[in-house]
Amino acid sequence: MIRSVVRGFGAALPKRVLTNAELESMVDTSDEWIVQRTGIHQRYIAGEGETTASLGEAAARAALDKAGLTAADIDVIIVATSTPDNTFPATAVNIQNRLGMHHGFAFDVQAVCSGFVYAVTTADAYIRGGLAKRVLVIGAETFSRILDWTDRTTCVLFGDGAGAIVLEAADGAGTNQDRGVLTAQLRSDGAHREKLYVDGGPSTTGTVGHLRMEGREVFKHAVGMITDVIVSAFDATGFAAEDIDWLVPHQANKRIIDGSARKLGIPLEKVVVTVDLHGNTSAASIPLALAAAAGDGRIKEGDLVLLEAMGGGFTWGAVLLRW
Ligand code: UT7
Repeated sequence: MIRSVVRGFGAALPKRVLTNAELESMVDTSDEWIVQRTGIHQRYIAGEGETTASLGEAAARAALDKAGLTAADIDVIIVATSTPDNTFPATAVNIQNRLGMHHGFAFDVQAVCSGFVYAVTTADAYIRGGLAKRVLVIGAETFSRILDWTDRTTCVLFGDGAGAIVLEAADGAGTNQDRGVLTAQLRSDGAHREKLYVDGGPSTTGTVGHLRMEGREVFKHAVGMITDVIVSAFDATGFAAEDIDWLVPHQANKRIIDGSARKLGIPLEKVVVTVDLHGNTSAASIPLALAAAAGDGRIKEGDLVLLEAMGGGFTWGAVLLRW
């Protein structure tokens, strides 16, 4: 059986760090409120010349280096983003060109904070379907560019960055002991669109718009949706919470992460947390967290790793893979 195995990982963050203390001088907020309600201490903000494509390119180059590969070895590039450099062409095509890659194909996936989980699922389907041998999967965002910097309920939450992995086709026995993606579970429900959306777009206002969120409403749904889809991943594979070596969740809020882990019975020592340093980087948060935990040796070959995300749409999903 063909499996999609992680060969390399990489990350890229903008140069500028924005601390909670600095935000206190921009809106009516406090370090204490932000830390207590979200766990965020700082976030990175893209500066001049830094864009979703430039950050995605840097993360992609790091992932290729780690894999010992070059762009010549890649068949497909999939970028998960809601903050593309342009409405079109896709940021993936921009990154393809920046990498000097003129073969294969590249496209974007838009599922907001669940984007990376959707993109990994898509890449896995291409690989298992025999359409590609190696896929570069990137989550890259510059949410700072769609924030309303006068709205304290949203501007303190988000940050910019990019992460990438290389997925490669490998022969597996078809058992749960195989390395690679073991199951992927995706969900969406557009009935919740008003709770988290951007109030502009090419076909409505002709503007880019700003992020709007009813945070409390999103929070109310988050833990239930996340745990439901993880239970589906357990049902599909026969694994249980105690089998998981690492939970790598979307990094929206430390309280959501802790609440989900607690409900599932996954000890907090097995949860990778980067929200304190990165804030919520939407589709970039999971690959940034993967790069942090694999980079410092926490995630090791053979570990069972659970990815999960929930975000605008609503969209949500989980991927269970053996590293
Ligand atoms: O990644 C996509 C998914 N997104 C999420 O998962 C986000 C989900 N939501 C959340 O993480 C939380 O709901 C927030 C962090 C956004 C807010 O936390 P909360 O505990 O739900 O607070 P709240 O919205 O109920 O607001 C509590 C109070 C309000 O004041 P009143 O009405 O009680 O007087 C807010 O006006 O906190 C106030 N507030 C702030 N105070 C200081 C809201 N934002 C701020 C702020 N600084 N930045």
